[in-house]
Amino acid sequence: MRATLGFDVYGTLIDTEGVVHKLEGMVADPREFSRRWREKQLEYSFRRGLMQNYESFAVCTRDALSYTSLALGAPLTNQQKVDLLETYRTIPAFPDVREALAGLQEKGYRIFAFSNGTAEAVEKLLETARIRDLFMGVVSVDDLRSFKPNPAVYSHFLRQSGAGGSAWLVSGNPFDVIGAVSAGMRAAWLKRSEGAVFDPWGIEPTVTVRSLGELETAIAEVENR
Ligand code: LAC
Repeated sequence: MRATLGFDVYGTLIDTEGVVHKLEGMVADPREFSRRWREKQLEYSFRRGLMQNYESFAVCTRDALSYTSLALGAPLTNQQKVDLLETYRTIPAFPDVREALAGLQEKGYRIFAFSNGTAEAVEKLLETARIRDLFMGVVSVDDLRSFKPNPAVYSHFLRQSGAGGSAWLVSGNPFDVIGAVSAGMRAAWLKRSEGAVFDPWGIEPTVTVRSLGELETAIAEVENR
């Protein structure tokens, strides 16, 4: 049996910068706003996980939007916030996703989406991006009412996906890669931009790839060692 692959969703399959065009005309620096919004969204998920004060990832996203608007002195109307959050629920996939995952699927890899988002939110995103057919299923941290990188959510992934032998996380988020490796999984870091920095904790990704197109070769090399 080929390895089981759990693909992180936001920032890996789905381009969180897809909200930038929507922010144009609403805020002075859409790219900076989008970056700060994303950072705060993740911070809120980490804090809610630690505090054991769970609310869904969508709530982290909503609250982070309000925070960013206040912090950057970029006032948004309620309608603008509603529109931005609706855009966030339907942002497009990166252009390399379909071809790469279809190739892996054809080779017999078992492909899952594995996300901080609720199963319902992730199903909708994948449907809208027209890539749902590439996945055997969606595994969400919401089942445990916690977030990555709690080690329990990686164990949950292994159980839910029925990963018998080798299981990989594929993620553009270094904190997610470190979480998976610490929990005993293999992990591919998708270094989508030249300037992306991996946290210098001494816990390294099993492989690093620059695009999803490089994944099959990199994984096969490790699996066939
Ligand atoms: C996810 C976040 C970490 O999709 O991007 O799980």
